[in-house]
Amino acid sequence: MDKFIIKGPVKLKGKIIISGSKNSALPILFASLLIEDSVEIKNIPQLKDIDIVMKILIKLGVKIKKKKSLIIDASNILQYNIPSYLIKSIRASIWILSPLLTRLGKVNIAFPGGCSIGNRPIDLHINSLKLLGAKINIKENFIKGYIKKKFIGNIIRMKSISVGATITIILAATLASNITIIENSAKEPEIKDLANFLNTMGANIQGAGTNKIVIEGVKKLKGGVYKIIPDRIETGTFLVAAAICRSKILCKHTNPNNLNIVLNKLQKAGAEIKIGKDWCSINMHNQRPKSVNIITGPYPNFPTDMQSQFALLNLVSKGTSTIKENIFKNRFMYVPELIRMGANIILKKNILKCKGIKLLSGAEVTATDLRASVSLVLAGCIASGITIINNISYIDRGYENIENKLSSLGANIQRIKY
Ligand code: EPZ
Repeated sequence: MDKFIIKGPVKLKGKIIISGSKNSALPILFASLLIEDSVEIKNIPQLKDIDIVMKILIKLGVKIKKKKSLIIDASNILQYNIPSYLIKSIRASIWILSPLLTRLGKVNIAFPGGCSIGNRPIDLHINSLKLLGAKINIKENFIKGYIKKKFIGNIIRMKSISVGATITIILAATLASNITIIENSAKEPEIKDLANFLNTMGANIQGAGTNKIVIEGVKKLKGGVYKIIPDRIETGTFLVAAAICRSKILCKHTNPNNLNIVLNKLQKAGAEIKIGKDWCSINMHNQRPKSVNIITGPYPNFPTDMQSQFALLNLVSKGTSTIKENIFKNRFMYVPELIRMGANIILKKNILKCKGIKLLSGAEVTATDLRASVSLVLAGCIASGITIINNISYIDRGYENIENKLSSLGANIQRIKY
C-alpha cells in the first residue's frame, strides 16, 4: 500500500494540463462493447480504474491497441464470465450489464465495487433493465440476467436522479427495438459525452444533458474516432489548490462551462476567475479565501465530487460555513483525518460545520476514498511540517500522475512504495 510523504507549507502555483474525464471514459469504454467494429478513443486518462476496465474488456475477447489513444475492437465478444475480483474492484463495472445482454443475451457477474461513500445500491439499474425486457435475479451477490432477443424500448420515469442508472439505460436502449424515453434523467456533462460518442458511431440519442432523454434504437453501430471531454473534477481540484495557497493556477485543455457553480463559489471565496475556450485560471492575489456554504446535488447543482475539496478550502478560510452532502450517505470519512491536522470541524448527520483556521499542522493520516484522499494531499501541501498519507491507492484511481502534476506546481511530495 503506497504512501505519500508531503512537506509543507508550500505555495502551489503555475500551469497544469487537465486529463480526460474519468467519469466519461469509463462509460464510453463499456459502450464500445456495443460496436462490432474498431473505434479510436482519444484523451483517455491513465488511471487504475481505466486499466481495470481494459482488463475486463480483454477478458471478454475485445482487442485493444494502446497508443496515444485507445483503439478498441469489440467485433468478437467470446464469453460473459468475468473474474469477480475485477468486477468488484470498481463501481463502473455495473455498466457491463447492458452491453453483454445486448451482444450475448446473457450475463452473470458479481456485484460491482466502488468507493465506500455509501452503500452504493443498484436497484435503479436493475429495475430499469427489467422495464426494458431483461429477466434479472440477484443471488449471493451475483447478478444473473438474460433477454430473449433484444431490449424493448419503454418509458422509464426515474424515481430519483442517478448518473449510473441513466448510463445503464442509454447503453441498453441504443440497440433496442423501438424508442426509450428516460424521464428525470441525470444531466451530468459525462452523460452528454457518452451520447455524443454513441451518436458519432451511429446511435440516435436526443436530449442528453437535459432531464428527458429520447433514444431511438438502431440496428447496428459503426466504428469511428472520438475524443473524451476534460475532467471537470480534476480542474476544480487544482483551482481549489490555488485558492487554499492564496496563489494562481492556470488549467489548460479543460472546459470551464462544465464547472459554472464551482467557479461561482470560488469567486464568492474571493478568487479572480478568468475563462477561455479551453482554459480557466484562478488568482487569489495572496488573499486568504472567504468561507462559502455548499449544498451538493445532481448536476448542475454543486458536484458531490468537489465536496471534500471545498471542505478543505473552508477549513483555512476566514469565517464559518456549512457543507451539506445530499448525494451519498457516507462522504465525510475524511473528517477525522483533517481533525488530526488541526481542523475545526463538527459533523452532524450530513452537515459539516467548518470554522476556518490560519494553518493546519502536518500529521499521519489515512486516505478513505478517491476525492477525500486528494483533499488530504492538498491539506498536506499547505500544512506546516510533514504529512504522511497512507493507503493512497484511491488517488491513482482518479487522478492521473498526481504527484508529478503537484510537484510541477511546487509541491514537496514523495511516493513511498510498499
Ligand atoms: C457516479 O456515481 C460517479 N461515478 C460518482 O463519482 C459521482 O459522485 C456520482 O455519479 C454523482 O451522482 C462514476 O461515474 C464512475 P449515482 P454513481 O447513481 O453512478 C443512489 C468519483 O469520485 N443510487 O448518481 O454511483 C446512490 O446511492 C465518483 O468519481 C441508488 O439508490 O452515482 C446515491 O445516493 C464517486 N440506487 C445517488 O443515487 C441505484 O441503483 C446518486 O448515485 C443507483 C444509485
